[in-house]
Amino acid sequence: MSRNKIAVIGGGQIGTIIALMATQKELGDITIIDLPDFIDPVKGKALDIDHLRPHINSDVMISVSSDYADIAGSDVVIVTAGVPRRPNMSREDLLFINIDIIKGVAEQIKIHCPNAFVIVATNPVDTMSYVFHKVSGFAKQQVAGLSGALDTGRFQSFIAEATGLSVKDVSCMVIGGHGPTMVPLVSTASVAGISITDLLSSEQIEQIVARTKEAGSEIVQLLGNGSAFISSAGSIMEMVEAFLGDKKRVISCSALCQGEYGVEDYFLGVPVVIGAGGVEKILEASLDTSEHESLSTTASAVIASANKSGL
Ligand code: LAC
Repeated sequence: MSRNKIAVIGGGQIGTIIALMATQKELGDITIIDLPDFIDPVKGKALDIDHLRPHINSDVMISVSSDYADIAGSDVVIVTAGVPRRPNMSREDLLFINIDIIKGVAEQIKIHCPNAFVIVATNPVDTMSYVFHKVSGFAKQQVAGLSGALDTGRFQSFIAEATGLSVKDVSCMVIGGHGPTMVPLVSTASVAGISITDLLSSEQIEQIVARTKEAGSEIVQLLGNGSAFISSAGSIMEMVEAFLGDKKRVISCSALCQGEYGVEDYFLGVPVVIGAGGVEKILEASLDTSEHESLSTTASAVIASANKSGL
């Protein structure tokens, strides 16, 4: 049986950690693509990961290239290319900087990996996933944006911290656009099936919801130069493993909605089943009144952003 092939477009912070995690988990051979002007440091980091392999018994191969032909036949392509936020920038501020990058990347992936499952991490991710889909013409099952997987992890971490209980037992979901209008679903958040409303005060829950929405910005502010990359890579790996292992995981991702949650032909963060077919299904959860209102606000924001792309 041949090994899986994983392509990472962009060898920056997220791309490097993805390569590291994929090597640690022996998920497949990895090719990182970056521009000729930036490639030497990427090659250096890839060699460093290569030399880690004997210490962790990992038999994957890792290579770096500027030639998209080298990703031909990849099972999964992770798009991290683009510019990250700096302090006091919103993800939306990156729209016109990153849109041309994603258009170029989509054209190349269309040529070299027409059957791959593609995970888009570039911000603003709902719009970049939309642009990728429009330019590549890929089926909706082939394209998912990194949004709720990361936001849900933050929501889970904050609930675990506030309750003092294991993060393993926290079950919750964040849906909507990957930005300040995202919707952490309180009505269904639980620890081992016990509603968080039984475990935490309404003030505590309000604080957790607010911090979840701003968690990306909190990290951008602290880093001073760039955005979260470790948990971002970790949540992308969850999506990759669900796909490669046909796990049927339910993960919140930016996916093309065609009527689901009242959204027609736009990408929005929704609960998705990820298996060997990629985005196999969008699950529709019943929401309470306030969640329903918040979802319509976030959907409007995401649609307005996508429309700015002119596609
Ligand atoms: C964040 C960026 C990666 O939420 O969108 O941290």
